Amino acid sequence: MKMIYQQLMAFFLVIAITIVLLGLSFGRMSKTFVYDNTWSSLEKYSDSLIQHSLKVDSKHNDRVTFNLDKIRMTQSILENQSVHFTVFSAKNRVVYPADGVSPQITKNDWRHLQKDQIVRKVNNKNAKLKNGKTRPAMIEVLKPYYYKKKLVAAVTAGAFISDVNSNVARINRNLVKGLLVALIISMVASFFIARRLNRRIAMLRSGANQVSNGNYKVRLKPGGKDEIGELINDFNRMTASLERANLEIQRQEERRQEFLADAAHEMRTPLTTISGILEGIKYDVIPQESRTKSIELMSEETQRLIRLVNKNLDFEKIRSNSIQLDKRHFNATKVFRNIIDQLSNKAQESNDKLVLNAADDLPIYADYDRFVQIVFNIITNAIQFTNKGTVTITGERGYNETIIKIADTGIGMTVDQQKNIFERYYKADASRRSGKYGESGLGLAIVHQLVKSHGGKISVASKKGKGSTFTIIFPDQTAAEKTKDAPDRNN
Ligand SMILES: Nc1ncnc2c1ncn2[C@@H]1O[C@H](COP(=O)(O)OP(=O)(O)OP(=O)(O)O)[C@@H](O)[C@H]1O
Ligand SMILES: [Mg+2]
Repeated sequence: MKMIYQQLMAFFLVIAITIVLLGLSFGRMSKTFVYDNTWSSLEKYSDSLIQHSLKVDSKHNDRVTFNLDKIRMTQSILENQSVHFTVFSAKNRVVYPADGVSPQITKNDWRHLQKDQIVRKVNNKNAKLKNGKTRPAMIEVLKPYYYKKKLVAAVTAGAFISDVNSNVARINRNLVKGLLVALIISMVASFFIARRLNRRIAMLRSGANQVSNGNYKVRLKPGGKDEIGELINDFNRMTASLERANLEIQRQEERRQEFLADAAHEMRTPLTTISGILEGIKYDVIPQESRTKSIELMSEETQRLIRLVNKNLDFEKIRSNSIQLDKRHFNATKVFRNIIDQLSNKAQESNDKLVLNAADDLPIYADYDRFVQIVFNIITNAIQFTNKGTVTITGERGYNETIIKIADTGIGMTVDQQKNIFERYYKADASRRSGKYGESGLGLAIVHQLVKSHGGKISVASKKGKGSTFTIIFPDQTAAEKTKDAPDRNN
């Protein structure tokens, strides 16, 4: 069954049960109310009847007399309101009327009257009297009247139960009408509430379907501060992160394909050169004077292949965490000075100035050889991509870490290039297949893995045409590393 019908049914059940319960209790209340009202009116009528018609003659030993004319008059006035009296003497004898349909006061009721108690009664059925006459069903009140603590009279005042009940029925009819109107209004309101809820659920369903069909761009219109509204917000957050993840997967897939193509290309170039020279030697087509040069070229290409294979192996080793880092404390500034010495010729070739900006003693905790490899690679890149500029090496202490910055004023990179430089084989300028210092696009991939295995961080900030700054952070020795090292020192 559709959800909207389920909800409507549930709403209907709740409302209907509430209305039935309300109706029943109100119905009972209205009956009690009408009956109580009738009884108290009857008492008042009976009081005024006795007031006008009963006389006690104190001169003659408190003799009680009833003025029948006055009783008749009162009766005829109240006849219109269908009130009927029966007046009894203190000896339980009917004084008025003489129509033979007067009620008889039972012994039990008479006992109550003698105790000055008012008796309220409902006779639901027509009563057959001893004389064969019928007394209609009535609602009655029996009231005793006392003079000087002596019972002098009792009055039964009654109204036809059919009249009283027709009043109750009228009230109940109005009540039912009111409740029906309430039922209709609340069902219409429930319908609109259920429809809004269902529309939003249908919207979520269609959104989920679109996501399962691979459309991660779908966003739902937010609305409502209830649980469904929150679900819509969650859904939107979910599709946004799915979209991001999907883009990342696509990017990685593109990089994987590029990587395969690049790897094949990197291997093929030197192999083609070597194979060409070997063919030349085989068929003796290389002139004598070019032979030495050809063999030199072959040797260079072989070296290049070996370097490529070694770099790949190194990368894989670091990546799979199978290298052992021999971390220790040393002075990073000394390392910078050594590297600057080694690279000063290369810097001169590119007309670059190398500037060192670090305290004489800059403590660092790292694997010495790997640290040299990292800094060497980045400074080499900086020189390679900077012409007539400056490469500044800055070293400083941070909070429990050493921060190294290598800034150049070279060609810089776009944001897109910056995202990819730590990937294997990535070269911003793909046409540059070989160069003086960089050739394989593996340098930064290795640097990245090395910094990671040191527990450090590497990042780049760059602007096309303005230059690049690489920042590397090496954390200090941790407490755990200290305790691990301690036994070694004792040995
Ligand atoms: N300082 C820099 N300025 C501009 N571009 C840079 C800089 N450093 C790296 N790049 C870009 O990042 C790419 C990747 O650098 P990486 O060091 O990984 O490879 P490579 O230098 O080309 O080759 P090698 O494996 O020999 O180091 C470079 O080809 C270059 O496009
Ligand atoms: Mg490089």
